[in-house]
Amino acid sequence: MEVYITSREITQVIKIKKAENNSIGFVPTMGALHKGHLTLMEEALRNNDYVVVSVFVNPTQFNNSEDLNKYPRNLDRDISLLKTLSNSNIILFAPTVKAIYNDKIETESFDFDGLEHEMEGKFRVGHFDGVGTVVKRLLQLIEPNKAYFGEKDFQQLQIIRKLVKKRQLATQIIGCQIYRESSGLAMSSRNERLSDLQKNEAALIYKTLKTAKLKFGTESVTTILDWVAKVFLNNTILKLEYFVISDEDTLKPIKIKSNNIKYRAFIAVYADEIRLIDNIALN
Ligand code: PAF
Repeated sequence: MEVYITSREITQVIKIKKAENNSIGFVPTMGALHKGHLTLMEEALRNNDYVVVSVFVNPTQFNNSEDLNKYPRNLDRDISLLKTLSNSNIILFAPTVKAIYNDKIETESFDFDGLEHEMEGKFRVGHFDGVGTVVKRLLQLIEPNKAYFGEKDFQQLQIIRKLVKKRQLATQIIGCQIYRESSGLAMSSRNERLSDLQKNEAALIYKTLKTAKLKFGTESVTTILDWVAKVFLNNTILKLEYFVISDEDTLKPIKIKSNNIKYRAFIAVYADEIRLIDNIALN
């Protein structure tokens, strides 16, 4: 597998591939790859001649330095996993912080038309400016035909769609379905940190989302919000941070349903200090 660490190298290689009329797919990651990431890459491999996978733990999207330092890094393991998919069509870009930020780690401020102030934006201040900063740089460097993002981070996906539209970047953004463990728990690098007990209990997150979806057909939004709050009220293992039902496009939470609008339920839950998020389309 081709592995590059500088911006100059990756742009040069892509220039050559493009000159040979190859299409380029792109899957940005922060490493610690799991089956959920691999499904994004499989989708990208099906639809492009080459797939660039970036592994870069982006410092500007972390709210605290302890979280950043603790973030799992294992490039050798990531490379072995990528090789199980393809040795010749995946190009790995594993830049250093300097390769992306030069000598100044600076975060750009974005206006994502309010998408950035909902849900995760309330609890992880500055997070989406960090994501926007790095994704914009990576898209400008790689200029892929298509870039793939998981729907587990649905707010991030919508924000990146907005970024591409506002900055007129020539990449098509593809959202990919959430990949779940057999219990229904959405795949995440954080799941590795859960104890067996926490992991078993975490199946309640998706179970609750599925029931909320059923209820959405017949019950009012406030009834569903109250019901979810009660589900987690006496749970000693999982602590509910938020559950909202929102317009899928604006991400604004609603209390009353309207016709012809797509809604989604979003949830964030803590198991000790491990934060898990998930979401489901409601209609
Ligand atoms: O979803 C992620 O892993 C990160 O937010 C991303 C998109 C790779 C940017 O660092």
